[in-house]
Amino acid sequence: MKYLINKPNLSNLEKEYVLKALKSTWLSANGENTKIFEKKISKILKNKYCLAVQSGTASLHLALKSLGVKSSDKVIVPNYTCVSNLSAVAQCGATSILVDIEKDTLGLDYELVKEAYKKYKPKYLQLVHVYGFPAKDTHKIINFCKRNKIKIIEDTSEALGSKLNGKVVGSFGDINVTSIRSEKMIGVGEGAIISTNIKKIFEKFTLLASRSAPFRTSKDPYWKKYYVSGEGYNYLMPHLLGSVARGQIERFEKELIKKKIKVGKIYINELKKNNLNYGQQISNKSKPVYWLNSVMFTKLKVNKVRKIGENLKKIGIEVRSGFWPLNLLKTFKSHYITKNNISQNVFNKILILPSSFDLKEKDIKLIIKKICKLQNK
Ligand SMILES: Cc1ncc(COP(=O)(O)O)c(C=O)c1O
Repeated sequence: MKYLINKPNLSNLEKEYVLKALKSTWLSANGENTKIFEKKISKILKNKYCLAVQSGTASLHLALKSLGVKSSDKVIVPNYTCVSNLSAVAQCGATSILVDIEKDTLGLDYELVKEAYKKYKPKYLQLVHVYGFPAKDTHKIINFCKRNKIKIIEDTSEALGSKLNGKVVGSFGDINVTSIRSEKMIGVGEGAIISTNIKKIFEKFTLLASRSAPFRTSKDPYWKKYYVSGEGYNYLMPHLLGSVARGQIERFEKELIKKKIKVGKIYINELKKNNLNYGQQISNKSKPVYWLNSVMFTKLKVNKVRKIGENLKKIGIEVRSGFWPLNLLKTFKSHYITKNNISQNVFNKILILPSSFDLKEKDIKLIIKKICKLQNK
């Protein structure tokens, strides 16, 4: 593929830190670079306590577990998001209450959240900012959750660095998770960060991610190392990946985020000039990071949209479909709350376009020209 959805942007800095880690011979968890990365991303997310782990899926599992989700519990999950949001709930044995999205920013629909609460009384909610755009109803949802004692897991895997009302997303909930797998806003291969401002929750997920072995530091008696206090997982990030993460986060605000926003703004302009609809709208008082750019073919039938996508692939332009609506994945325990099945409509009509950091204006113009040609064919 000539134009990838999101090619990782790596520099000599990441190489330098990886080499440093290799030279230290410390390859496993809690490496020096990983610890520096955690401190730096904690400043960006405005969360005091951060832990680097092995994937966004693992971080969601940890988040739910450390908030105390049990098999009898219900968790609100947006119907339009990565399947990991759903599978993490299943890993806890709990039931997902799938709530449809609103059509502008593709975030959770506030009215439907209220309906879901009335019907199922869930105690947890996952708030996801889709493709780099803060969810429109974020504040209403947060206030509703506070009033009804619903705990929030805020997922900024697709929106690291975006802002709402002047505040960066990531510290609106009780826990934040952010995947940093290779094609995200920062990418290390497979990895994630889990963070919070609540010390007790941090201690809980740190223990769970470390096999629930409480005596694991060099200061603890050596013979206590293999004692475990309960069920636990091996989820901590290894040092080589933590080293890439350190390089990426040091370049994030000065370089990476700026490149993304530039690409996003060109897409918005160029799609408009060609009478095509950008896939999402920028909600009031929000500053998106345009993680992935998309086009919404409101008037085309699903087969025509798929044909355009397949033909773009053939000429080296990588495309993605929207998320498969989660209510269609029948192997999971779930209930679906919707009014107009917006997530199904988005899945049918959206095409995710190449959005790499270094995409040039001329590349974007070419991609859009090809889309226009295929649309009129
Ligand atoms: C919103 C969201 N949450 C969670 C995940 C899962 O993260 P990972 O792929 O690192 O397990 C993803 C996708 O990668 C995602 O887009």
